[in-house]
Amino acid sequence: MSDPVKALVFDAYGTLFDVHSVIKLCDELWPGKGTALSQLWRTKQLEYTWQRSLMQRYEDFTHVTEAGLRYGCKALGLALDEAARSRLMQAYLRLDTYPEVSETLKRLAGRKLAILSNGSPAMLDPVVANAGLSEILDAVISVDSLRIFKPDPRVYKLAVDRLGVPTGSIGFVSSNCWDAIGAKAFGFRVYWCNRAGAPLDELGVSPDHEMRSLAELPALVGAA
Ligand code: 2OP
Repeated sequence: MSDPVKALVFDAYGTLFDVHSVIKLCDELWPGKGTALSQLWRTKQLEYTWQRSLMQRYEDFTHVTEAGLRYGCKALGLALDEAARSRLMQAYLRLDTYPEVSETLKRLAGRKLAILSNGSPAMLDPVVANAGLSEILDAVISVDSLRIFKPDPRVYKLAVDRLGVPTGSIGFVSSNCWDAIGAKAFGFRVYWCNRAGAPLDELGVSPDHEMRSLAELPALVGAA
């Protein structure tokens, strides 16, 4: 029998916070280009984290996010002036949460609840506060102290150390398949929130559970 889940650790971007809630502002700035820009921005943001980790050239997530934005604009031929850059970066501090987040976290109360994210504290603190999640979370853990990004196993170990809960009693929740696989390879019990119904990445590691929405999580951990 497996250990009870004593703590749940959530990825931030794409799992609790909808990175594509910037599409509206992108469309306001460049009509019709919002979806393409938002997708390219996110893709490059993630690629740069992996590349920087491998090159051992860490820069914090604000820097990486802005670099992804600049690349996306260049690739789509969009002129990014200082005013637009500033508005879009500010928008990242007020990303929408997915609709089920608040209710789901409330239903999970009684367990330790935390975020473990590539985000720097300067990005995470405002987005968490804006979403009204500061009170319900026991910890918001950033990779910044290690200066390396997920899926490096040392990042997942941060959550074990910070929460004081053994690896086998931590449930890790991410909508990002690469992150879910990284967390499983580390040893967490993993809940992949596969919102888009994407195929599993071919890396020879499978999450323990797959769900379409975070609303399924309380039942999976026995909290419903
Ligand atoms: C995170 O929050 C980037 O979604 C990733 O760590």
